[in-house]
Amino acid sequence: MSPWLGLLLALLGCTAALDPALEAAWKGWKSLYAKEYPGELEAARREVWEKNLRRIQQHNWEESRGQHQFRLEMNHYGDLTDEEFNQLLNGFVPARQEEPALLFQASAAVKTPAEVDWRAKGYVTPVKNQGHCGSCWAFSATGALEGLVFKRTGKPAVLSEQNLIDCSRKLGNNGCHGGYMTRAFQYVRDNGGLNSERIYPYVATDTSSCRYDPRDRAANCSAIWVVAQGDETALEQAVATVGPVSVAVDASGFHFHFYKSALLSTGVFSSAFCSQRVNHGMLAVGYGTSQDNGHNVSYWILKNSWSELWGERGYLRLLKGAHNPCGVANQASFPWL
Ligand SMILES: *[C@@H]1O[C@H](CO)[C@@H](O)[C@H](O)[C@H]1NC(C)=O
Ligand SMILES: *[C@@H]1O[C@H](CO)[C@@H](O)[C@H](O)[C@H]1NC(C)=O
Repeated sequence: MSPWLGLLLALLGCTAALDPALEAAWKGWKSLYAKEYPGELEAARREVWEKNLRRIQQHNWEESRGQHQFRLEMNHYGDLTDEEFNQLLNGFVPARQEEPALLFQASAAVKTPAEVDWRAKGYVTPVKNQGHCGSCWAFSATGALEGLVFKRTGKPAVLSEQNLIDCSRKLGNNGCHGGYMTRAFQYVRDNGGLNSERIYPYVATDTSSCRYDPRDRAANCSAIWVVAQGDETALEQAVATVGPVSVAVDASGFHFHFYKSALLSTGVFSSAFCSQRVNHGMLAVGYGTSQDNGHNVSYWILKNSWSELWGERGYLRLLKGAHNPCGVANQASFPWL
């Protein structure tokens, strides 16, 4: 094929798909999320955005006909393809559990409450935003450590993901390119502390060197627990008796990327839209039940790090007690003091 033919095909491929009726919506979305593109890139980004928008509209139409339990919404990730999204944001590396950790197992003697929500008790800080950096593992880890600090001191602490990103490389974490919550806890334990977000702020890049300040020990950790793999009952007991627990899920699907609550259906995300191959760190902050035409639907409450714009003000409710949906109990862990 001549180079000219190649160029011609590429140009047609970029521009032919754009829908002129979406011009105003595209401009509105760009201005809402402060997006700017060099001229030659705009058409390609708009094509991705239009494709995402059509898939979102299709899903929501099906939801309105009772086919799904949650809705989707266009958000700040609307110009990314599924592949780009997963490459940029889903940075949890499933671990062979080789680091020394204590095993949390379900006990028949434990009676858990019907509902738990650590947000209402002050254990959970406001939803954060990891930006275009696969540092979910660091956000999941600070979330569990923030819960532990509150449990021990009664005072809220907002902890530094950047401290974990810059300083836990030697344990096998890889900054914006993925890591492990257990190895983040290990860093805090071995290092003898973790800084607060205030003195060690998040910059969403992983090129700076470690600048931990030992004068600010905003969190401590002396032991690391992992929850029995795949056991939702053990996870429920951990969440009910310990506090917020770090979990990993499969967040690689389109529906996960654009998840939004729902008014008429339950708004609960289900395993039909994910696998059990986990790739994204989140924080389990509780669980509960909602009613759907006379039957009860149980769900996990998971804190995400994709800003409050995503999901239910930054949270996901995930179907619970349904054979480990999205692998939620596959890599659960928490720090201890
Ligand atoms: C962490 O441990 C150090 C040394 O014992 C202590 O000074 C600091 O207050 C602890 N931090 C928290 C949040 O408990
Ligand atoms: C649903 O849950 C409520 C309380 O959470 C309970 O009283 C009721 O019996 C449950 N219904 C069913 C059908 O399980």
